[in-house]
This record gives sequence, C-alpha cells and structure tokens, in this order.
Amino acid sequence: MKKYTLDWNTYTELARTAVAEGAVLLKNDKETLPIAPGATVAVFGRSQFNYYKSGTGSGGMVNVSYVTSPLDALKECADLQVNESLLKVYEEWVEKNPFDKGEGWAGEPWSQVEMAVTDSLVEEAASASDVALILIGRTAGEDRDNTADPGSYLLTDIEEELIKKVTKAFAKTVVILNVGNIIDMKWATDYSPSAILYSWQGGMEGGSGLVDVLTGKITPSGKLPDTIARSIDAYPSTKNFGDADKGIYQEDIYVGYRYFETFAKGQVLYPFGFGLSYTDFAHEVVKAAEDGGVITLEVAVRNAGKRSGKEVVQVYVEKPQGALGNPARALVAFEKTMLLEAGERETLVFKIPVTEFASYDDSGATGHKSSYVLEVGTYRLHVGTDVRSASPAFDYTVDALRVIETLSENMAPVEPFARMKATLGEEGYELAYEDVPLRTIDVKERCANELPADRAYTGDRGFRLADVHHGKVELDVFLDQLTDEDLACIVRGQGMNSPRVTPGTAGAFGGVSDDLEAWGIPAACCADGPSGIRMDIGTKAFSLPNGTLLASTFNLSLMEDLFEMTGLELRKNRVDTLLGPGMNIHRNPLNGRNFEYFSEDPHLTGRMAIAQLRGMHRVGVTGTLKHFSANNQEFHRHDIDSVVSERALREIYLKGFEMAVKEGEARSIMTTYGAVNGVWTAGLYDQNTRILRGEWGFDGIVMTDWWAKINREGEAANKYDTASMVRSQNDLYMVISQPDANPFEDNTIASLAEGELTRAELLRSAANICRFILQAPVMERTLGLHDGAVEVIGQGEASEEDLDFDVAYQHVDDGGSISLRDVDTSTGSTHVFAISIDQPGMYEVTVTARSHAGELAQMPVTLFANNTPSATFTFNGSGGELVTQSAQVFFLNQHNYLSLFFALGGLEVEDMTFKLSDSFHMKNV
Ligand code: BGC
Repeated sequence: MKKYTLDWNTYTELARTAVAEGAVLLKNDKETLPIAPGATVAVFGRSQFNYYKSGTGSGGMVNVSYVTSPLDALKECADLQVNESLLKVYEEWVEKNPFDKGEGWAGEPWSQVEMAVTDSLVEEAASASDVALILIGRTAGEDRDNTADPGSYLLTDIEEELIKKVTKAFAKTVVILNVGNIIDMKWATDYSPSAILYSWQGGMEGGSGLVDVLTGKITPSGKLPDTIARSIDAYPSTKNFGDADKGIYQEDIYVGYRYFETFAKGQVLYPFGFGLSYTDFAHEVVKAAEDGGVITLEVAVRNAGKRSGKEVVQVYVEKPQGALGNPARALVAFEKTMLLEAGERETLVFKIPVTEFASYDDSGATGHKSSYVLEVGTYRLHVGTDVRSASPAFDYTVDALRVIETLSENMAPVEPFARMKATLGEEGYELAYEDVPLRTIDVKERCANELPADRAYTGDRGFRLADVHHGKVELDVFLDQLTDEDLACIVRGQGMNSPRVTPGTAGAFGGVSDDLEAWGIPAACCADGPSGIRMDIGTKAFSLPNGTLLASTFNLSLMEDLFEMTGLELRKNRVDTLLGPGMNIHRNPLNGRNFEYFSEDPHLTGRMAIAQLRGMHRVGVTGTLKHFSANNQEFHRHDIDSVVSERALREIYLKGFEMAVKEGEARSIMTTYGAVNGVWTAGLYDQNTRILRGEWGFDGIVMTDWWAKINREGEAANKYDTASMVRSQNDLYMVISQPDANPFEDNTIASLAEGELTRAELLRSAANICRFILQAPVMERTLGLHDGAVEVIGQGEASEEDLDFDVAYQHVDDGGSISLRDVDTSTGSTHVFAISIDQPGMYEVTVTARSHAGELAQMPVTLFANNTPSATFTFNGSGGELVTQSAQVFFLNQHNYLSLFFALGGLEVEDMTFKLSDSFHMKNV
C-alpha cells in the first residue's frame, strides 16, 4: 500500500516562498528596499493587523489556525525594529475602530476605515524611524464586483492623505498593496513614494513572505500578470462591464496588454510582465534558429548586480496584420531562472512551435473559415523582461498562407455588434471596428444529428464498478445494467455538506444514493478551492496565496511543488478534486473574483493551471478548472450573457482551458452561472461537447456551478432542465440535498419519456462520471488499495488535528428541539453539532438558557450555520430563571453543521428549537 506523507514545514516554506516570489516591485528609488538590518520601520495602515489573506466568497472560506500578518512577521524579524510609539497609536485606534466584517455572504466592505494621521504624528514617526511602510488593504469577491469608487478601486481620501503626508515627511516610503486585484495608481504619480510593492493576498503565510522581501532575504522576482493603466476608463472593456443582462465584448481579442501595446501605449503606467529586482540582470539572445517548425531561442541571463535573485524572460510574438488583424504583442513563452548568485549566468532554452502563432479565422477572411491559420508575413519574436521593453530577437517568415488546424464553427454569436480590429497604417497600428461574424449553423439540428447510438438496458448482470477497475468488464457494459432512475440520479451532485463525503465540503458525486452505492459506485468529494480547502464544519486547512499572486511568480516548478502539497492535503481530507484552479481571464480590473484567477493573459493562465494540475496529479488527486467560460463579471452572474466573438473565445477565453486539458490532462471542469451568446453554459453543447471533448479530447467530468441555471436557446433559464444539461454533456447538476428524491423536480426522467433526451446520452454522462471516479482516491479506498491515511509531519496544527469523517446528524422535525444540556459554555468555548432537517428554508431558532448572574451581565452566544455567522443571542443574567432568545436563521441545505460560540461564560443552556417560518423551493428561485 502506497504511503503518503505531508510535511507541513515544506508546505509552509513553499507557500512563503511563493508569497515572496509573487510580490511585484514596481518602484524602488533611493535604495529604499531592501531595508537595512537594524533599521526602525514606521508602519502605517491597519492592514498591518487586519491582513487580507484572500478575497471573499467560496474561494476565501478556508478555516485557518493562524494568519501571519505583516506586523506579526515584522515583530518576529530580528533585523528590524518597529516604531513602537506609532504602533501604540494604531493599536489604540484599532481597538476603538474594530475590523468591520460586514454581514453575511458578499456583505463585507471592500475596505476598512483607515486612521486619519496628523502631521505631527507622521513627523514624530519620521524623526524616530528610517523608513515608512504604508499598507493599503482591499478585498472583493464572489457575487459583488469592485467599483470605481474610493474604498474599492480608488483610494479613500484618508488613504490618499496618509500617502501624501508620509511621503512628505519620510525620505523613504514603501507603499505595500495587500489587494486581490490591481487598483488605481494615480497616487503613485501624484505623491511619488520611493518604493511600491504589490504583495496581493498571500494566504496564511502572507506576512512572512512579505517581510522576506522587505528585508532582502528573498529578492523580489514577481512580474505583473496584468497591465496597470492610468485609469479605469483606459481599459477597453470598462464601458461594457457591469450591465445586468449583457456584456458585449467589443474589445474582442484586445484584452489587457494586447490592447494597450497596440492602440494605447501612452495609457500604461506599468506594463504587463514588469517587476523590479534588488539586483541587475543582463540578458542576451545567444541563439535563435528555426528548424522543422520549431524556433529555438537560447537566452543567457547574467546576474550583473550584487545580490542573488531570479529573473523572468518573456517571449512575445508580433504577427503580421494579414486579413484578420492581430495585436502588437502576444506572450508565447516565458521561463524563470534558478536563483542566480551575483555574477552567475544561466542560459534559458525556449522551444516554440510556430503553430503557437496561429490566429483563428472566424469570418473566412483568409479563405479558411473556422481554422487556425498563419497568414503571410513576418512573425517577429521579442524577448525581454516585460512586454514594453522586450526587443526583437528573431524573425520567422511565412511565404504562403498556412492552415494549422481546421475546426468548425462553435459558440459563435447571434447578436450583431462591432468588434475591434487592428490595421496597420502609416503611423503604425490603427484601431478599426468590423462587424462580428455571426453564427451560420443550426446548432439544434447539428446536435440532434450527433446523438450517441442507443444501447439496450440489460438489467443487473452482477457487475459492479470494481469489475470495471479489474478489467473484467467494459464500463459501458457495467452501465447498461443501471435503471433510468439510477442514471437520472447519478447526474445529480449532492451538497452542500453531503453526509456521504468529507464534512463541510461543497459536494459529492457518483454514488449519491443507496441504489448507486449498491452498484459499487462510491461518492467522490469536491471542495472549494482554489486557494485552499474549504470545509464549513470548521476544519482547519492551509490557506494558499491567491491566484493573481501565484501567477505573478511566473514560477512553474514552484507551482507544481506547492500544489503537490495541496494534493496531499486533499488526500488527507478525502477530497478527490479541488474546485480550482480559477481560470477566468482578468478582462476588467473591476471583476470581484479576479483575485481567484491568474491574469489578463491566456498563456500565463494556461501554464499556471497546468503546473497546479501536475502538482496535484503527482499524488493522484486533481483540480476542477473553473468557470468554463467567460465568467468575467459577478454582478448578475446568474443571468449575464457574454456576447463575444468566436475568435475572442478561442484565442482568449477558452485558451487557458484548452492548454490545461491538452497538456495538463485536466479531468474535471465547472461551467459558469451565466450564458455565452445566449445559451447558459451549463447546457452549452458547442462548448461542453464539440469543443471540449470533440476538439480537445477531454474525457472527464463537467459539473455545473452550484445551483446554476440552464436554458434552451431563446428560452428563459431555470434550475431543472437537466435534459438540456445532459444533452450538452455537462454531466453533473451541482448541488441537490437529496438526489434520489429529486427535490428540484428536474426533467430528466420526463424528458426520456418525451423523447427530448435519450438513455444513451445519460449513459454517456454516467460514463464520464464513473471514468473520473475510477481514477480518484475514493476508488482506491473502496477497493482497499489505499486506506486514505496521509501521515502529516512537521509543525503546525494540521499534524495534531484529526478529521472526524463520521459526523452524526441529529434529525429535527419542524418545531423539534435538540438538547444542549451538557455543553461546555465557558468563555471562548465552541460547541459543534450537525442537524438534518426535512425542508431547507428560514427557521425561527430559539435558545433556552438561564444564568445566575445579575441582569446587567451580557452573555453573547453566536450561532454559525455552515460556518457563516447567522445569529447572535445575547442573554442577560436571569437570576436563575429559564429565558428564551430567538432569531431567524436560514438553512440552505438539508444537512447543516452548526456551532455555538460562547463569548462569555456563565450560561446554562437547555435546548435549541427549530420552527420553519418560510420554506425554500429551489426550483422556483
Ligand atoms: C462558486 C464556485 C464554487 C461553488 C461551491 C459557487 O458560488 O461560483 O466557484 O466552487 O460555489 O462553493
């Protein structure tokens, strides 16, 4: 039996290194950084305490045993002194102005009130310190985008005043951005701080990695994964962002630097790929040649400075304009050096197939519609350390048009609009517009002609899934035994908090009913993702740096090593697939979930995802690529329709997914809440079958996002059209509390009867699901090949905490109660328990308790439902009398984890009753 060991120290070290390597140094005048040993630092900004480890929503809900804040790390650093009198002022202020958590889901403010500083405070600090650090914090996340307002994308007046006063009083000021996403940077020009560092959101090791950079223990080597423009209005997508129904992708393929480098160079403050170091690097292309359609570039990098460091060499292609038009630059390769000591050299070798330069013709302008082509002309490779400064290194000439790959029209828009196009004029690139090519195919008819062949139902022939594993029987033969009801059930995922899998996780799939389990199909487990494992029962997990930070490292081997650790942690927690990496393109800086995603560039996105998958695959678990595709806005995410050309989809929005499927061997994908060109992606056949499986060869599972909608073209979307979902080969509807009871009244069975869906299509999805499960750790455990145990060594609570996989649910009827008589209610204690209810909905929850304290005593008890603070019952002393406190609490699930936190001891709790006040019909939502 294979033995798995997770070394928590290695995990911590890798994450800390990633934080340091992901920090992007934008400016470093007057040798401000690194801070010399022995220096005193004056730290401004409340993020020194209230560090944002990640953004909000499902991607941020990792329960941690600690988060190292910047202040914690500075205090631990023996080489630096923190200006204590300034710290005291902040401590007192923070105590009076506590961190505002906001209320509920997507209810957190995107920034916190900051302390206004006086001139005298700043001057006093300056007289007693060598350098000032100003921390600016921002969060954002699921269900709520950033706004171009102070406190979100812009600085607040207080923050601006802070930067103004501190930069005036201190010769050396470092502005550190603890943000999920790029923010407006006008202040950098206005107040000119001597150093600026984007340190993003670094997870639980965030403060430590940051201080490693500040002290020079690690030389920064992070590079911008996004262009920082002069204003939000400079981004070409801004004017089409934030609509409730429709997002028109007028900018087409001109996203991020593809737009700026072509049409608006002057609008860029910091270019894509840019990031400074504490040392100097020189690079030189020592070989450039083409052979058999592969260009080899050898780039010698020399550390010409005085400190050790790493450098990232980036290769961009400048294509001829041809009939299609192309951006001035597109990233086609990058490599990061190893750690180079002063004077040391490394030669990076790039092998770039010229097929990588192909553009997709969605109009037929080249005479080859629906093909990737190389148009005639010179393909110039630029090599450098950011997109702007990269210089010509090699020309590859195409003499006659070459068709690289002939595909077919898929996902094309139906709604006319004008899209951007580049043309080459006398003065260089010019911005033009052209009509977007519209769909010419009858997709419904095409899909009907491609249905899988019927197969006969055989009834039970005695085969179980293990027999497929042992090679005794083909998967199809095994599945032919399942009834229609079994098949209708297997396409339903169970959650959240399925009692069949790891407590507190997002979902189970496969053996989600007793009947399916009887076929030997186990229930596989998925958990959010992407920046650590979310377990709502409160189980602690490792909180990773956010996606944008990881992309900024440009370090693929680090990514593989880090995600091998995450893979082991997934195994330890019996999770088969992480719900990540998040792969959507940073189309606009205001997207609330950008922090989960990597970059504005598809190549960087794809390579990062491949590396993360490879890391997890080393230990037999995997990740779920999400959200497929064009999930670029949180506002109205269930209903927004992305209106976008087929070319932009293929070259920008699908590209990273394509790379992760083809090279990263992805086995699981999540679709989006919204629609692309009028069809909700959970039922988008062109995407989920024709492109993903037909063109890319994917044979894994596709799952919906949680409680997603599905539609038929031209019709309204709903949550029960599983027939359209299965037809598209989105295999799993996520999630339902009791799959065999069909609480959403989905239309799978009815559609079989009506001829709207075939059994063969259901079998096809069942095969996708079982194929996934056959390769997953849950199957190893079911077969007894591995007991699932992962030995955890090293420091940290993870090694001590043993997960209880068998939480007992107490069933409560409407109006029923559970006893809490023996619960420890002393100060700071927590009581965790689990309940199952018949009907999700709003409940009146009543706690009965007594206290012998006087009537002015306050004893708050907070109820967390599935780890979300849901109600606080504040009891006063009752002189020993039993009293009740009630609150309305919403239970979305049938299975729920609850915990009670006793902020102050002195209560004797009797029981808790649950009365349904308003039931919740998912189908009608
Ligand atoms: C998010 C997904 C997430 C899922 C499960 C949804 O709200 O969009 O990214 O994986 O919830 O938590």
